Amino acid sequence: MRKLVYFVASSADGFIAGPGGEFDFFPMEGDHIAAQAAELAETLPQHVREMLHVSLGQTRFDTVVMGRGTYAPGLAAGFEDPYAPLQTVVFSRSLPAREGRVRIVADDPLAFVRTLKEQPGKDIWLCGGGALAGQLLPEIDEVILKINPVLARDGVRVLAGDFQPSKLTLRKHRAFTSGVTWLYYDVAR
Ligand SMILES: NC(=O)c1ccc[n+]([C@@H]2O[C@H](COP(=O)([O-])OP(=O)(O)OC[C@H]3O[C@@H](n4cnc5c(N)ncnc54)[C@H](OP(=O)(O)O)[C@@H]3O)[C@@H](O)[C@H]2O)c1
Repeated sequence: MRKLVYFVASSADGFIAGPGGEFDFFPMEGDHIAAQAAELAETLPQHVREMLHVSLGQTRFDTVVMGRGTYAPGLAAGFEDPYAPLQTVVFSRSLPAREGRVRIVADDPLAFVRTLKEQPGKDIWLCGGGALAGQLLPEIDEVILKINPVLARDGVRVLAGDFQPSKLTLRKHRAFTSGVTWLYYDVAR
């Protein structure tokens, strides 16, 4: 069955964005970006791939799911289909529903993703944010945390929700000279 993989950048203290959605405190250059471009280029927005002259070869993911809080800032900047050619699913009860390569749905995220996982296809990338990830945790198979060498102190947490520890198994770790570390976890069931 295809896996749901939460691949996300975090501060060392567990924030994926600042309280106002800031993310410019994460280093955007360095060998960690080169690795992402080489191995998971589909997780870079299309305009970033173009800027870096990165082309898509084989991809791990063919679908990305995200909450409206993650989609809306890019949309406001004119990026309606930021991760093309991935099938994009945006969960929102406030945006008008939409079909096509970018689907906007008000469905229950857990039920929707369970159905998606049963359909044939490549793995599914959970882009974020923390509110959606908190709801989808029962269906998350892997967490790949890109830990940035910075403390944010406040902002959007990796996962929203109440205190409820979930065990992880560390499968792999990589340290980049940029100071970014990638931690690959399997979620224990
Ligand atoms: N560092 C990273 O790698 C990374 C990755 C992704 C995102 N981010 C950042 O994270 C922030 C956004 O995260 P967030 O936690 O605030 O928001 P989010 O999870 O992206 O989106 C939350 C929104 O999703 C919709 N939603 C949630 N549950 C739903 C449900 N059950 N049914 C239908 N729709 C549902 C709602 O939209 P409506 O209000 O429209 O109903 C809700 O307001 C942004 O600043 C973004 O830049 C960072």
